[in-house]
Amino acid sequence: MNTDLDELLRSLRVWDPEVTELPGFDPASAPPEPLPLFERWFAQAVAAGEREPHTMSLATSDEEGHPDVRIVMLHGADASGWSFATHAGSRKGRHLAAHPHAALAFYWPALGRQVRVRGPVTTAPPEQARADLHARSTGALAAALTGRQSEVLNSLEELTRASQEAWDRARREPEADVPTWTLYRLRPTEVEFFQGDPRRRHVRLRYHRTGEGTWSHELLWP
Ligand SMILES: Cc1cc2nc3c(=O)[nH]c(=O)nc-3n(C[C@H](O)[C@H](O)[C@H](O)COP(=O)(O)O)c2cc1C
Repeated sequence: MNTDLDELLRSLRVWDPEVTELPGFDPASAPPEPLPLFERWFAQAVAAGEREPHTMSLATSDEEGHPDVRIVMLHGADASGWSFATHAGSRKGRHLAAHPHAALAFYWPALGRQVRVRGPVTTAPPEQARADLHARSTGALAAALTGRQSEVLNSLEELTRASQEAWDRARREPEADVPTWTLYRLRPTEVEFFQGDPRRRHVRLRYHRTGEGTWSHELLWP
């Protein structure tokens, strides 16, 4: 038994009123669709000083239906879906090709809030992926140009060489194309908003798509 880890785990708290005063969430004030509520909560997370609120867990499943998860960045959310970008040949890219469904989870501890999004995933047209990539930083382009994501790497020296070449090319050619770089859109069938509460009376509000642009929502036991 790892007693250091056990002690540390027991010393930590969530929804601690002595550390953070969490906002309330009145579900009666919720809009009929999830996107405006997501936009509101996202802006409030930024205003609350949440670090990197645009990072999210992306869960996919492999050919056998076994789950996998990792962090990626949110590139946008609008009527067409929640978008993120990655290499089509990466592990997650291969998962999505075989099984184009995914789930996202955001956690904003400064406000005790979680948002879960699930649904089918499609790929955006390549010109949109290119425009999205070229609107980002030189580092983002260099990372995309480095490529070979999720392949086995023989040594860190190999990475340093490839990355240096990619940075040089990204600076020289800010419009360089990265054919495997793909913009994905998750079009939600469900979006759940969770507001943590120190008394554990967490408010969970789940939206469920009922048709083109129409949603119903309901409360869930925490
Ligand atoms: C804060 C953070 C942001 C990340 N953003 C992305 C991203 O937007 N796209 C991406 O492909 N990988 C991103 N990564 C790396 C992924 O977590 C992951 O390591 C990589 O995509 C390979 O995943 P895979 O082998 O499951 O395909 C990010 C990692 C962190 C920690």
